[in-house]
Amino acid sequence: MTKILVTGGAGYIGSHTVVELVNHGYEPVIVDNFSNSSPSVLDGIAKITGKRPAIYEGDCNDAAFMARVFASERPAGAIHFAAYKAVGESVAKPLMYYENNIGSLLVLLKTMLAFECHLLVFSSSCTVYGTPDKLPVTEASPMQEAESPYGYTKQVSERIIADTCRAHPGLAAVALRYFNPIGAHPSAHIGELPLGVPNNLVPFVTQTAAGIRPELVVFGNDYNTPDGTNIRDYIHVVDLAVAHVKTLQYLQKEDVSYDVINVGTGRGHSVLEVVHTFEQVSGRSLPHRIGPRRPGDVEQVYAAVDKARTTLGWQARYSLEDALRDAWRWQQSLE
Ligand code: NAD
Ligand code: WQD
Repeated sequence: MTKILVTGGAGYIGSHTVVELVNHGYEPVIVDNFSNSSPSVLDGIAKITGKRPAIYEGDCNDAAFMARVFASERPAGAIHFAAYKAVGESVAKPLMYYENNIGSLLVLLKTMLAFECHLLVFSSSCTVYGTPDKLPVTEASPMQEAESPYGYTKQVSERIIADTCRAHPGLAAVALRYFNPIGAHPSAHIGELPLGVPNNLVPFVTQTAAGIRPELVVFGNDYNTPDGTNIRDYIHVVDLAVAHVKTLQYLQKEDVSYDVINVGTGRGHSVLEVVHTFEQVSGRSLPHRIGPRRPGDVEQVYAAVDKARTTLGWQARYSLEDALRDAWRWQQSLE
């Protein structure tokens, strides 16, 4: 069985990817320091797959620790999820973000080269595009200057990986540019576990519906969109997880050096569409009001998904309704 190191494998997207790796016959090995997750995630993964993946608790920035993991596991490839991801926090604590997000990537790449681990899938983000000139956004769209240290870590990481692949022809990597991941595993055994007040829309919606938050504030309805609210490409986390497996298969089969691929549905939905669709699937009314714009929000962004379809043979299968129903089921399982 092909062994794949999954850094940040206890996190939101990582845990769903670990499940799909097992489902597709891979052997995932998790590295996580639980800075934004909990060991109980392993129970959820075991309930779904019937298998408890190997896990090493530690920091990807710790080169000696990473060398020990590689020496005992000898993975054929790695998926690098481990990073901090809160845009606002990155503005307040840039050094913490540069250190964790860039530092962990440098350690991982050096360790991979030392242990002849040749395949890498990297978690990038649609944030690298900033405000796109044209919609849908293709992979050829130019990057705009990053609006946050977080966004800059993704731009720089992509560049670091591209340069390393160019210098080391044996190494093959794909940076997946995720759009807005939402939802949870349909079993409700794993899902997103935001600490404190959620930054993202869907966890805020489900916590409001559950009565944990009094109301959702919609950040602006004076944008140049049909209902005035922002438009995003919301992708079910299980679809996103499967995209990682397809990317590994692509790296194993094809002669790739470095590539970037969008992972989205290709469809945009407004904030109010999310609210109303959530109300339909949950059967609850969601207290919400229109508030001011949130600084830094892009008016609308959704992915061109042709490259994922043609190169990976992957496309999203779940709808916004499915994702919101699964997010709600997961939220209810926490009560
Ligand atoms: P998450 O916080 O749920 O998962 C990240 C995991 O990495 C956590 O379990 C955390 O404990 C671990 N981690 C962080 N730093 C570590 C370190 N130095 N050593 C070991 N473990 C460490 O986040 P997520 O939503 O699953 O995101 C995964 C990746 O996808 C991140 O790189 C993120 O930037 C990227 N991404 C996320 C989104 C999103 O909206 N969730 C969108 C685009 C890209
Ligand atoms: C979605 C929409 C808000 C909360 C972020 C990162 C991006 C990527 C995905 C990591 C926006 C609106 C939200 C609320 C609201 N992550 N909203 N009220 O900002 O599209 O993307 O996560 O790479 O880099 O920036 O996601 O979920 O925060 O917001 O009206 O309480 O919901 O204005 O239009 P965003 P989000």
